[in-house]
Amino acid sequence: MLPVDDRRPIGVFDSGVGGLTVVRALRAALPGEDVVYLGDTARVPYGSKSPRTVERYAVACQRFLLDRGVKLVLIACNTASAHALDALRDASPVPVIGAVEPGARAALAATRTGDIGVIGTLGTVRSGAYERALRAVRPDVRVSAMACPLLVPLAEEGWTDDDIARAVARRYLTQLFDADPAIDTLVLGCTHYPLLRGVLAATAAQVAHREVAIVDSAQAMAAATVALVGAPENRRTAPGRLDCFATDTSRLDELAPRFLGERPSGFELVDL
Ligand code: DGL
Repeated sequence: MLPVDDRRPIGVFDSGVGGLTVVRALRAALPGEDVVYLGDTARVPYGSKSPRTVERYAVACQRFLLDRGVKLVLIACNTASAHALDALRDASPVPVIGAVEPGARAALAATRTGDIGVIGTLGTVRSGAYERALRAVRPDVRVSAMACPLLVPLAEEGWTDDDIARAVARRYLTQLFDADPAIDTLVLGCTHYPLLRGVLAATAAQVAHREVAIVDSAQAMAAATVALVGAPENRRTAPGRLDCFATDTSRLDELAPRFLGERPSGFELVDL
């Protein structure tokens, strides 16, 4: 546990603006904490890039946050968490929380059948990181993972609750549930998917013919952060600051509010 009187900010980074879903969950759970956010918008997407490239980019993002004196680093990006968690922990003097472990633990707490579905980027799915994290805790768990690359642009366009979103979700989830019809828990293993949560939950229930528990890795990360910094009632009550940085500013005005749920006060352009 970090000391309650540690006023240093929490650092959060992502490949782009999607990680603002993690900031949103974090600020809801710990409203008094100051947050520094970095979106590597010049190099997004990470989901289709090779592990070495993602690791190199992620280490540079973390270095930026560490230079700003953060007490803790959250890797909002599932792809970066999947490829670079060990490298980032090795390079950091402060604790580092990735997206995969908290999401895996939340899924294990939710499943009854022991059959878990994971959806994410191509990089996250190919890495096998969720399978490893799930099996490390419960070796007999059955995991089916599906890359859903079309969901990221849908979330960015704001097409999150229409016929196109439903058709795309149905196509991916039909394949996933064909692989294991006993899946009762679905992990949203990507920063963007919380925006499609309604459509994904409804489609999963239709395809499975019963309710399917949805695990949102952004909320799971916020819960893991609370466990490390202490419950909100023990902390400052004044609203915390949110300072946002990005490596490219194109479309930020349009995209950021969609993921954060409010308009951020602005982004400062930085070069890593
Ligand atoms: N942030 C990425 C993730 O959570 C999705 C977008 C990208 O491919 O960079 O995996």
